[in-house]
This record gives sequence, C-alpha cells and structure tokens, in this order.
Amino acid sequence: MPTVTSTLDIQKIRSQFPVLDQEVNGKPLIYFDNAATSQTANQVVQSLIQFYQKDHANIHRGIHTLAERSTKAFEETRERVHEFINSGEADEIIFTKGTTESINLVAQSWGTKFLKEGDEILISQLEHHSNIVPWQLAAERSGAVIKVIPINEKGEIRMDEYRNLLSDRTRLVAVNYVSNSLGTINPVKEIIEAAQEVKAITLIDAAQAAPHIKIDVQELNCDFLALSSHKMYGPTGVGVLYGRRDLLEAMPPYQGGGEMIKDVSFSGTTYNDIPYKFEAGTPNIGEVIAFKYAMDFIDELGHEHIQTYEHELLEYANNKLRSIPGFRPIGTADEKASVISFLIDNVHQYDLGQLLDARGIAVRTGHHCTQPLMDHLGIDGTVRASFAVYNTKEEIDVFYDALVSIIKKFG
Ligand code: ALA
Repeated sequence: MPTVTSTLDIQKIRSQFPVLDQEVNGKPLIYFDNAATSQTANQVVQSLIQFYQKDHANIHRGIHTLAERSTKAFEETRERVHEFINSGEADEIIFTKGTTESINLVAQSWGTKFLKEGDEILISQLEHHSNIVPWQLAAERSGAVIKVIPINEKGEIRMDEYRNLLSDRTRLVAVNYVSNSLGTINPVKEIIEAAQEVKAITLIDAAQAAPHIKIDVQELNCDFLALSSHKMYGPTGVGVLYGRRDLLEAMPPYQGGGEMIKDVSFSGTTYNDIPYKFEAGTPNIGEVIAFKYAMDFIDELGHEHIQTYEHELLEYANNKLRSIPGFRPIGTADEKASVISFLIDNVHQYDLGQLLDARGIAVRTGHHCTQPLMDHLGIDGTVRASFAVYNTKEEIDVFYDALVSIIKKFG
C-alpha cells in the first residue's frame, strides 16, 4: 500500500505526452488502455528522433564514430536497467523484444537443458498466455508437468494451496507480479521464499508491475525477471530478461547468429559471454537507447508517488463505478494495481468497448490473453480500464457518465 501522499503535478506530466491532447471520434481522448501499452514520454520520442536523425549505426560491430556512439548509448541503457531493478551486475541484463520473448528465452534455453521428465512447473491461474504457453512447449519437450496454483474468489493466489503444491519435484515457479487482467498484486517475495525452500527456480513476469512498483531483484531474490519497455512509457520492441549470472552462464544460447559468438568455423562455434550470448542479431538499437529516458521519467516522479496517485485513481473509480446498476467488478484483491476489470449486466463487453470508443474512451475488452483465467471465472472476457500516471479523476468522471448513458440506452 502506498505510504506517501501524491504530490505529482499531473498537468505537467500530461504535457509530456502530446498524444493525449487529441480528439478521437469528436471527443477528447481518454486513454485507459495502459495495461496493454502506455503512451510514450516526450523525452523518449526525442531520443528516438535524435537516434534516427543523428546517431543511427549498428552496435558492437563498427569502429567508426557513429558505431561507437550508438554502442556506448546502448550499453548505457543496460547500466540503467541494472540500476533501475538493482541487479547484481549489468551483465545479468539481456535485451529482448518484450516480456514474451524473455520468458520464451528461459523456457527454451533453461527449460531444454534443465527440465526433465516428472519435473513440475508451477504457474498460477492468473497468468498471461505468455507465461503459460512457453511452459507448455517446454513441458512437451521435456516431459515435465505443469501444475496450476489456484486463486480465491477475489482473484488472489491461494498461498495455502501454493505451499501444498510445492515439493521436491518442483523445478520452477513462474508467476506474474501483477495480473494484467485483474490487477492483483501478488505476494511475490513470499512466493519466491517458499519456492526456495524446495530449491525451485523462480521467474517473475513483471510486465505489469514495472510501471507501478519499485522492483529490486536482489531484494526479491528471484532467479529470473522479465519486463517490457512499452508498458513503462518507453518504446515498443524492447524487453528485459534479468537472470542470475550463474544460471545464465549455465544456459545454452537459444538463437544463433551474429553477436552471440566468439568464433565461428564450419567445424564449430564458441559462444560469447553473457549477456551477448543471448542477443543474436541486430537489436532494436534506437528503442533500447530511448528506453533509458523512460526509466528516467519514472524515477524522476518516483515509484512511490506514482503508486500513490494511481491508487487514488483506482479508489475514485471503484467508488463511482460501483454505484452503476448491474456493475460487476471482476477481481477485487486487497492489493491491486490501477486496473479495473468489470462487466455490466445485459450489456456485452464488446458493445461497451465500442460505445466507449465512440465517445473517445479507449479501454480493452476480451480475455486479455488470459483465457484459462476467464474460463475459471466462467466468463468470456471483461471490460478493462487501466490507469497510468497521466490519467485524471476528471477523465474517470467522463468515463462514468459515458457508462451511465450507455446502459440507459440498453435499459
Ligand atoms: N498483455 C497486454 C494486456 O494485458 C497486451 O493488454
């Protein structure tokens, strides 16, 4: 729970996101789809422009000035991520194209080498497809078995059931920090500690947590953690995999190509050191460089302030929306990030989504890439409003009025 009072200047923050200042379908845009992707901070956009107009060159390959400049800036972002999530060292930071690729990297590389028949992989009922399907593929390859940690009626992981599932067969526990569908903040520290008691490896999908909650991988003591820049006011196409050095060193490469090698001949190849061993091919150089400015943006505001403010938005929205006849919140965990998933009786979620869009309000509808969760809840999807630090209570008022007027029409 937040411990400081929000002191953020939201209008100043909004001015750093010119995209917000537009009309959609004749109405001022209200962007409540931040859990899908957040808007991009101006300083990030400026960095991209600078890169493509002045600095564009490939990294780690050229000795010319532009190549040295882009290599230096790229590696500065690695240092910045190392500082941002407090990894033991910068070499434990691998750039990928997103959280999905980060998880696939572990499932393919670590999974292929270390999973064997009869091993158990624990994931929770709350997982995104990207933290389910890679493990199903790994289980098919290895003969490992997936076990699902149940949730309670509020959408919280059942820690008692989790502890019962842990055994000396548990090889990996992979859970999200924050549920993208329901907003539940999971007790990851406790989950990791319990996994360590049975010597299981832990992977945290922090895609939905990183924009809201301060992440400290040493404090969490997880083995792997994945996040995405585009949910953190940064560019798309950039993800991070944090992995403990000894694990990364023991893992085989999962993609071959340039950059990940030391020497190649037709009789064999020696691989590069970490992190390069896992970074085959030309990455999204300009986007990685610009991601540094997204982390600066978050740190300048401070996670505590962001969380406090977003929590105010969440409470404000909860209080207003629950007065709407037929409003049904989906996911009512005690600890939640700024996500409200809901249904309204007699109005299909897709209709709601479209009618909100007609009023300039962007929300996500559907299963949110969590079909097993939706099946468990006995629904085919929800309407999801997810708030970022640039959203306002006034926008929530407009959202509320829009919902009231839509349901009147259906009434
Ligand atoms: N995982 C993203 C979402 O929840 C795309 O919308």
